[in-house]
Amino acid sequence: MENKTVLVTGGLGYIGSHTVVELISAGYFPVIVDNLANSTIGRLSSLEDLTGVKIAFEEVDCTNESEMRRVFSSYKINSVIHFAAFKSVEESQKMPEAYIRNNVGSTKVLLQLMEEFSVERFVFSSSCTVYGTPEINPVSESTPRLPAASVYGQTKQDCEDLIFEASKSAPFQSVVLRYFNPVGAHPSAKIGESTNDAPTNLIPLVCEVATGKRAKLFVFGEDYDTPDGSCIRDYIHVVDLAKAHVLALNLSKESNLEIFNLGVGKGYSVKEVVDRFQEINGVSITVEITGRRSGDVPAIWAIPDYAEKKMGWKCQLTIDDALAHAWNWTKTQIR
Ligand code: UD1
Repeated sequence: MENKTVLVTGGLGYIGSHTVVELISAGYFPVIVDNLANSTIGRLSSLEDLTGVKIAFEEVDCTNESEMRRVFSSYKINSVIHFAAFKSVEESQKMPEAYIRNNVGSTKVLLQLMEEFSVERFVFSSSCTVYGTPEINPVSESTPRLPAASVYGQTKQDCEDLIFEASKSAPFQSVVLRYFNPVGAHPSAKIGESTNDAPTNLIPLVCEVATGKRAKLFVFGEDYDTPDGSCIRDYIHVVDLAKAHVLALNLSKESNLEIFNLGVGKGYSVKEVVDRFQEINGVSITVEITGRRSGDVPAIWAIPDYAEKKMGWKCQLTIDDALAHAWNWTKTQIR
């Protein structure tokens, strides 16, 4: 029988937990590894509640090689999906060493152990941040990777480089998924985006303003060369993104390395997103324009055609769905 055991690092995090739901509904057996650095154990109960399945969980830091070796020895793992990473552009500029140690260090450990334990496939959480500040938009997978605008971006480039190198000789297939900006929450409102520290991503911050937890949203810059002066991003619903991981596990093995852009293919400015959020959810967001944020690129959005052609992946949900689902989830969190 086909081995459907998948190690999911960072499986209690935002994208990881949504992916675990999709994996279970597609008949996979996820084994979650998470050190709870930016998640809580409560997410495991929410996942079990949502899926009706008892899920294997190991509280381990992926940079800890001996502990990870124990995990690989305990389960017969067929594939690995590596989400566990620090992900704040802003924070990465302030604590570069921690970002390199965690993001690059964990990837090195996994590459080593996957070879040792004959894992068949590696799916890596990369980011559109690897394109740096692109000269033209939208970007395809063959758009050159320019120097990263942030340390976070640099760590994703470094991880990709390690994977590219490993794929020349490693016996496993690597699938690099370059996410654009994941947003939204599960339609059930049982799981969504939460952080152990104060959020730094746009939508959780907008939600905190909507609940009154925060007085206003600071828009980082309105002097960019974009139609309304604020930055442009490609916002993709986290459930659509999660589904791409299941498809990535089903790719034919004809190539040892595959790279996919995962975005909607349309860019929205920060101001447009805030306006849409207010309109869709009937709430009011106070905004103050402030200076640019270090590490931000002015504009980036995807050409997602290759993912459709090769994996049959297509977004089914819209940015408006994502904004409504994010708000529904936030409302469940108000105490
Ligand atoms: C970056 C990556 C993205 C990755 C994400 C993980 C790029 C281009 N994208 O997203 O692939 O998934 O990190 O965290 O590097 N903003 C405000 N005010 C705020 C917060 C954000 O104006 O208080 C603006 C930012 O300037 C940006 C947009 O909102 O233009 C989105 O920001 P954010 O949600 O933090 O994600 P990125 O940094 O774009």
